[in-house]
This record gives sequence, C-alpha cells and structure tokens, in this order.
Amino acid sequence: MITRRTLLATAPAILAAQTSSKELRVAYIGVGNRGSSTLKSLLQVPGAKVVAVCDLDPARVQKAIDTIAQKGGSAKGYADYRKMLEEMKEIDAVVIATPVDTHKNIAIATLELGKNVYLEKPVGIDAAEVDLVEKATRSAKGILQVGFQLRHDPNRVAAMKFIQGGGIGEVIYCHAMRHGGDLPRDTPWLFDKKRSGDIIVEQACHIIDLMVWAIGAPPLRAMGSGGINLYKNVPQGRTIMDNWSVIWEFPNDVRLNFSQIYFDPRGFSGTNERVFGSKGAVDLGKAMWGEVEGRELKKLDVENADKDANYMAMAAFVDNSLGHKTPLANIQSAGLSTRVAVMGRMAIEQKRIVNWSEVIA
Ligand SMILES: NC(=O)c1ccc[n+]([C@@H]2O[C@H](COP(=O)([O-])OP(=O)(O)OC[C@H]3O[C@@H](n4cnc5c(N)ncnc54)[C@H](O)[C@@H]3O)[C@@H](O)[C@H]2O)c1
Repeated sequence: MITRRTLLATAPAILAAQTSSKELRVAYIGVGNRGSSTLKSLLQVPGAKVVAVCDLDPARVQKAIDTIAQKGGSAKGYADYRKMLEEMKEIDAVVIATPVDTHKNIAIATLELGKNVYLEKPVGIDAAEVDLVEKATRSAKGILQVGFQLRHDPNRVAAMKFIQGGGIGEVIYCHAMRHGGDLPRDTPWLFDKKRSGDIIVEQACHIIDLMVWAIGAPPLRAMGSGGINLYKNVPQGRTIMDNWSVIWEFPNDVRLNFSQIYFDPRGFSGTNERVFGSKGAVDLGKAMWGEVEGRELKKLDVENADKDANYMAMAAFVDNSLGHKTPLANIQSAGLSTRVAVMGRMAIEQKRIVNWSEVIA
C-alpha cells in the first residue's frame, strides 16, 4: 500500500525517475575504489549521463570508460581535471572521489565553475579546510552534496525517523564502535595521516555523522586516547592509528562513546551505532530497538528495505542537482561531522580536552 510515509521515504528515487526527461551530465574526478563503486550506482539512476572521467591513473580511466560503455554510454577520459572542466563546458555536475587531502582544492575549483558537486567524505583534513569549502559553497551557483551515503540507507532512515518521532524518548547517550581488520594495504595515502586525516576523520566520520544527526547539536568537548599498538610501521611509514577511543560530551549531559580498532579477529568484527533514550535504545545500522530494561529487540518498519544506500545517495544527488535542492548530506551537516571527528583526533594527538570553540571559525 502506498502511504504518505512510503512516498516521503521513496522521494529521491521517484523524483529522479520523474525528472528523467531532464538530463544531468556528470563528470568523475577519481575512479579508484570509491569512485568506481558510486559510478556503478549512478549509472542506474534515471537522468544521469556520465560524460567524462578523470584520474591520474590511465588504467582506472579506461576501466571507468568501459563500465560506462557497457551501460550504453560514452565518456571522454582525462588525467587533468582542470583541462576536463575547461574543455567540456557542458558538464553540469562533478563527483569527486580523490584522497582527502585533495578535497578542498578540487571542491572549491568545481564549485567556482558553477557545477553541482558530490564530494566524498570527509569534507577536509581539518577545520580550516572545512571553513574554506563552506565559504565556497555559500557563494556557489550549484549544490554541494557530501558522500555521507548512510543518511540515505533505508535502515538508518527508519531508525532516525523513529528517534525524531520520539520513539526512544529523549536521547541521553550514544555508543558507537567500528571494529574490523586493517585497511587495504595497496592504498598508501590512507596510511598517511597528513593525507587521510587519520582513521577517526577518514573512516569514523560516517558513524559520527549519524550520531550527531541523532543528537541534533554540536558537542561541547572531546577527550580520548589512541595509537598504534600492533601495526607499528606496517605498512612502512604508517602514521595512522590502529585503535582509539573518544568520548564527546554534548549539551544536556549527553555523551557519545566511540571506539575503533583494526586488529580484530574477524569473528569479533562489526559495528554498533546505538542511540539510547529515556524510553529505549535503537541500533541505526540494524534498525532494531528495545525498551529500557526490555528483554526483546524489535525490527523497525523499514521502507525501501531492498534499496542500497549508494544508489539512494546518487539518486538524491541527481534529483538535488536538477531541482537545485539542499541535500540531506549538505555542507552544514557534513561540515559539522567533519569538525566533530577533527576534534576527536586533536584530543588524542594533544592528550587534552578539546572544546568545540577550537574547531569553528
Ligand atoms: N563514502 C564511502 O563509503 C567511502 C568509502 C571509501 C572511500 N571514500 C572516500 O572516497 C575518497 C577516495 O577514496 P578511495 O578509497 O576511492 O581511494 P583510491 O586511492 O582507491 O582512489 C582515489 C583515486 O583518485 C585519483 N586521484 C588522486 N588525485 C587526483 C587528482 N588530482 N585528479 C584526478 N584523480 C586523482 C587516484 O589516482 C585514485 O585512482 C576518499 O575521500 C575516501 O575517504 C568514501
């Protein structure tokens, strides 16, 4: 049965289909691990036409061109994104999926040209970079959507609606963990914290984004500890942590307690995204909830349960670009999450309590 809730929940995909008479000509900058994955999702979205691909690695450009050709399209390949944008004035939108230390410059350059931009998370390496991207977005003609695709994941959407509708009462505490094996060793920039922002900014930012969304306010302060306890100099030159724990304190005595480790026996691995309220608690990723002191967990009603977060995020990007709408993962929300992650990293590195005022301009 189609209800008002169904309509609201399916809005991005349906609207994208409705606007398919309008076309969004998209270019990719960066088609490595992430870019090649969202490309496949974007190629399924009605109205999206990928017309150009740029990467420093010619083999990756060719692979992306082949993927586009298999779907009946054709795209031009480039190694220099400035040349691509100069030559192909017809490009309406750009997906940026390059290493984190390149986000700020590429995002600002594309926004200044009036393009609609999908910028992979996090917004930047530090608060100063977030400031600059925020400033460029405020004066841009196009929209900026950030790659926090979990905001479009059906389970998380259902859980967030439940929380915002008062299902667990007042939010009082959040607990998050992301425990697993180490990062892919063939991606050197990830292991260099100057390039990635370290794992708390590059990886944990996804769950931080969800938690801050649920809490609905920026934190007051952060405290924590972390380091390299197992993978010392593995791979060679590693500067990113293999474990950390941070507690952020929010207004009204709300705390977020988050741990991440990379040397987990796979049998233990997993993620928790738990938001606790005065009446019950919900795990966002699993869309399961239970009452305070209740013994049973219940599955929430999940609309679009068969849809994937990446498809939903790309469909929303097409719809937002064509309709000039503010994305759900917009620069305010994504800038906030990136700053919260940066705060946690500062607390660990500097071994002190870091206040919110230190990460805002
Ligand atoms: N949203 C998610 O779930 C998710 C998942 C993984 C990665 N990411 C993000 O996506 C981004 C890319 O990560 P990845 O894992 O794909 O890395 P990757 O190393 O696999 O791919 C990055 C690509 O960018 C290219 N590149 C670098 N500088 C460039 C430039 N100036 N011009 C053109 N191409 C350039 C590289 O050659 C490479 O092919 C990062 O910001 C990362 O944090 C997001």
